[in-house]
Amino acid sequence: MSDTMHLTLTDRIEEPGNIIRLRFARADGAALPPVTPGAHLDIHLSDGPLDLWRQYSLCSDCSQTDHYEIGVLRDPKSRGGSEAVHRLAQPGTVFKVEGPRNHFLLDETASRTVLLGGGIGITPMLAMAQRLHALGRDFTLHYCTRSAEITAFRQLIAAAPWADRVVFHFDDQPDAQRLDLARDLPPPAPGTRLYVCGPQGFMDWVITTAEAAGHQTANVHREYFSADVDTTGTSFEVIAKRSGLTVTVGPDDTIAKALARAGVKIEVKCEEGVCGTCVTDVLDGTPDHRDKFLTEDEREEGTMICACCSRACTKTLVLDL
Ligand code: FES
Repeated sequence: MSDTMHLTLTDRIEEPGNIIRLRFARADGAALPPVTPGAHLDIHLSDGPLDLWRQYSLCSDCSQTDHYEIGVLRDPKSRGGSEAVHRLAQPGTVFKVEGPRNHFLLDETASRTVLLGGGIGITPMLAMAQRLHALGRDFTLHYCTRSAEITAFRQLIAAAPWADRVVFHFDDQPDAQRLDLARDLPPPAPGTRLYVCGPQGFMDWVITTAEAAGHQTANVHREYFSADVDTTGTSFEVIAKRSGLTVTVGPDDTIAKALARAGVKIEVKCEEGVCGTCVTDVLDGTPDHRDKFLTEDEREEGTMICACCSRACTKTLVLDL
């Protein structure tokens, strides 16, 4: 469990493309917990009936300990989190924050690194680029957006000492200027690492293409901000072994919700299988994984499940709860 902090929003910078850059610090200016590139914060959004946790990647330079920065896209299709951040994020406001946590670790020993950010997926890539530059590593950052006019962080990138490592790709430009994975991905090699973050379609395209080109799954690192998860399916039973309870998970229900109604609480944050907060040990039965959080190896092992969205292939699933 991460420590909870109360951080003050000190700056709100409007970026193009409905994105805001937010800077947080402690009220007394004291140093913040150290972070590594790829880390994210869990931010609590509370406003009347609204009571949500949302995850945002840090985009700031990890060597700076007096503040954290995140970027947030206002997404009308989101489930309320991004709209709430844009509404609530006024300088001086204090937010409850957990973390930083990092499920998207940068391999600082790689001989070659390619960062691929789509839209708001650029945020963790900025922190990674800063770190790779500081280490003197070989890297390229491909940044894909719909057009130059709605591309956030351009001024920040232009002023960075690693600006010449960034290749912009705009969808409204001629084909030669768009990201072409056959041209822009390096050949697979043991010391080459790819990092991808952005909308699900962009990520699925990059990951599938890279793996088909021979990049090992373990060398294609990914961070999903959100996922279109289908949590529905046929009913099954869940036994919470330590609690001595059995519940039925209906076609539109989730394991976490069914257990909560019976009094067994599993902490849940993103509710769409991307943050890992709800991961629970499986003692028996076969999970039907619907999340984007567990690795392929973890899914095959079948000893863990994201209880916010995944289901069961077997009639019964026994959990260590
Ligand atoms: S709550 Fe985020 S993965 Fe389940």
